[in-house]
Amino acid sequence: MTLHPMKTLMADAHAGGYAVPAFNCANLEMIQCVLRTAAELRAPVILGIHPVEIAYMGSASIAVAIARGVAEDLKVDFAIHQDHGDSVETCIRSIRGGFTSVMYDGSHLPIAQNAANAREVVKIAHACGVTVEGEVGTIGMTDEFGTKLENAHLCDPEMAVELADTGIDCLAVAIGNAHGFYTETPELRFDLVEEINKRVKIPLVLHGGTGIPRDQVQQAIRMGVAKMNVGTALRYAFVKAAADTIAAEVVKDLALMTIGTAGITAGADVVRDYMDICMCAGRSK
Ligand code: 13P
Repeated sequence: MTLHPMKTLMADAHAGGYAVPAFNCANLEMIQCVLRTAAELRAPVILGIHPVEIAYMGSASIAVAIARGVAEDLKVDFAIHQDHGDSVETCIRSIRGGFTSVMYDGSHLPIAQNAANAREVVKIAHACGVTVEGEVGTIGMTDEFGTKLENAHLCDPEMAVELADTGIDCLAVAIGNAHGFYTETPELRFDLVEEINKRVKIPLVLHGGTGIPRDQVQQAIRMGVAKMNVGTALRYAFVKAAADTIAAEVVKDLALMTIGTAGITAGADVVRDYMDICMCAGRSK
């Protein structure tokens, strides 16, 4: 295994015209699913672990130990990234636990405060060789059933410049994308990406990957997106496989492993699909 700072994987992707997918993982089985599939496809990959998922696993160092353990016998290039940390302290805990990348998400704050906090995270993270992702604008959110939970605010290119000046390594942009299942087919604002690209020279990150049509993802990659986050599609595959396994009465002997294995198998199809969309298969060194 090779555990990389996320920016190394993103720099290769940026230069090579593909993106590295970051899959949200909350347990051992999801990490096995993502890393084994990446190894099978020789695709670089990012484990995206949200603070809520870190808390579920116990701590940042437990999450890192699981990932390192799973990867030990695999030939896989990967990064362990903390998704959406809403405070400097959260990011410090992940860095201390061994994450190779953190997202400081101050997008809910006025830009001056977002930038001041990002600068602090950058100082600490870079001293430890850890990558930093920032966010400008609000990436909206829908729930699993397509109900809107949070309205999106598009990325303001001027604010993107202010945040990029803090030294962050990559920037998550709100360009019509949203977390969760889309209520209607998204139409990414490529005009806005063009504006951002004129002013900001770091790789861009596309959140809300579940359900963005292939042609739009690939257009975004051509315009500088080097990482795409995918959460809902993988969670849905795991939960549905578990529910189907139980409904089919396959589980007759309290075999938790049967349910977990069904999730891993179903999840691997999702991972393969998004790797195909991101054009990253075969790119591992
Ligand atoms: P989806 O759940 O919509 O795929 O988005 C995941 C994400 O962006 C995590 O940060």
